[in-house]
Amino acid sequence: MTRPDDHVIVLFGATGDLAKRKLLPGLFHLAGAGLLPDGYRIVGSAPARHTLDDAAFREHTHDAVAAYGSSEPSGLAWQTFEHSLSFAAADPQDPGPLLAAVRAAEDSLGGRPRRLFHLAVPPSAFRSVIGMLGDSGLAENAKVIVEKPFGTDLASARTLDETIHAVFDESRVFRIDHFLGKESVDNILALRFANGLLEPIWNRDHISHVQIDVPETLGLEGRARFYEGTGAFRDMIVTHLIQVLGIVAMEPPVSLAAQPLRDEKAKVFEALRPIEPEHVVRGQYDGYREEPGVAPDSETETFIALRLEVDNWRWAGIPFYLRSGKNLAQHREVITLGLREPPLRMFRTDLHRREWNRSNKIVIDFGDPGWIAARFLAKEPGPTMRLAPATMTFRYTDSFCREYGLEGYERLILDAMLGDQSLFTRADGIEHIWEASALLLENPPSLHPYAPGSWGPEPAVSDLIAPHHWYLPDAGEEAV
Ligand code: BG6
Repeated sequence: MTRPDDHVIVLFGATGDLAKRKLLPGLFHLAGAGLLPDGYRIVGSAPARHTLDDAAFREHTHDAVAAYGSSEPSGLAWQTFEHSLSFAAADPQDPGPLLAAVRAAEDSLGGRPRRLFHLAVPPSAFRSVIGMLGDSGLAENAKVIVEKPFGTDLASARTLDETIHAVFDESRVFRIDHFLGKESVDNILALRFANGLLEPIWNRDHISHVQIDVPETLGLEGRARFYEGTGAFRDMIVTHLIQVLGIVAMEPPVSLAAQPLRDEKAKVFEALRPIEPEHVVRGQYDGYREEPGVAPDSETETFIALRLEVDNWRWAGIPFYLRSGKNLAQHREVITLGLREPPLRMFRTDLHRREWNRSNKIVIDFGDPGWIAARFLAKEPGPTMRLAPATMTFRYTDSFCREYGLEGYERLILDAMLGDQSLFTRADGIEHIWEASALLLENPPSLHPYAPGSWGPEPAVSDLIAPHHWYLPDAGEEAV
């Protein structure tokens, strides 16, 4: 593996939830796996009101790794990593302390290390942080990772791009969507394009509908400030789920290099039909308005299910159903492709017909570690031809050693250091998604309440997908 050049990584939002759960544990895992550069330093940063000294940041990082990391923060690995950490406040009016911390980190490495800024901050803070990087000279020799959601609508996404491009040219911009870094999402490219098995049926002639389903059991987790201004549609759909749709629906790219791969995804997003508000169910869990930091009359949706259409030769007329929400019955990340039912006249079609219809599908679980299953009908042993549902399953854990597997963020931070933009989102693709969302954002349907721990607001959610069914509640056997 190519190792990146020496880097100083500056993490804005270093005391926030994302840094605690994913970024700090992920950086420690990359270090332990020997994938960080020979020389690296990590400078944590946050607004002055959350500032820490170096010792407190090291302790904060230790606790984050202990709570959320895949390996214990101890021994030589931890000592080496800890040594690389320092902290400086990020004050757009006074970039002095951050500038000093970055210079000190660079001096300790020697040579001319590259800079990587990761903006793990709410969208409202992007502009001031980018401006500070430009004005202070910190943007020189630097790349920037920008968190999702990228804007809140088409106009704000364009403005954000202008702000970024005033300081960083496009080759140095890495718009991150960590679902694109997940092993099992990347594996969809291998499944589709490295095999002759599925691609011939991967189209409207053979597939009746597609589901991309990411229910979460997690609630707000103290993120009310971020979530109130974002909601399930912007937090999950315009970002993660539609990016996954891009991989599921794209044409084969000429190569997996950044340009052809992202060109093909952008074409899918350009072909999205405008999302019709009547094809959308918005929900809010009972008790959301009583959460600390949530407005008592909040109209923010914590659940969303919707129908999308990709209006091109491969997919025209085939509904893509997307669903995600907080405080639901299960945490899952699953794509289901329902296959068209063949004529079943020669079999005993009187029995369990509905169940048969639901059996014919390809299921891709892209939750870590992930599995893929084909559900089909088989002959039950016995003197008569009776059909019963059966499953063929591939499980990552059974088939491969996962020692070198990386979590989504880990893979993408490594790619950013290497300068590889393939798995990062591109402005034109994002703009097409916002364009398709405009009607919905202007006319959001009213909110339905739902009980925490349920599958969202019924019967609206089941009605949306009828005559098909949400596959998840009765899945389970493949996950064993
Ligand atoms: C984040 C969202 O981007 O993705 C969270 O802001 C969500 O609300 C999370 O919980 C889900 O990602 P993962 O990989 O942790 O399941």
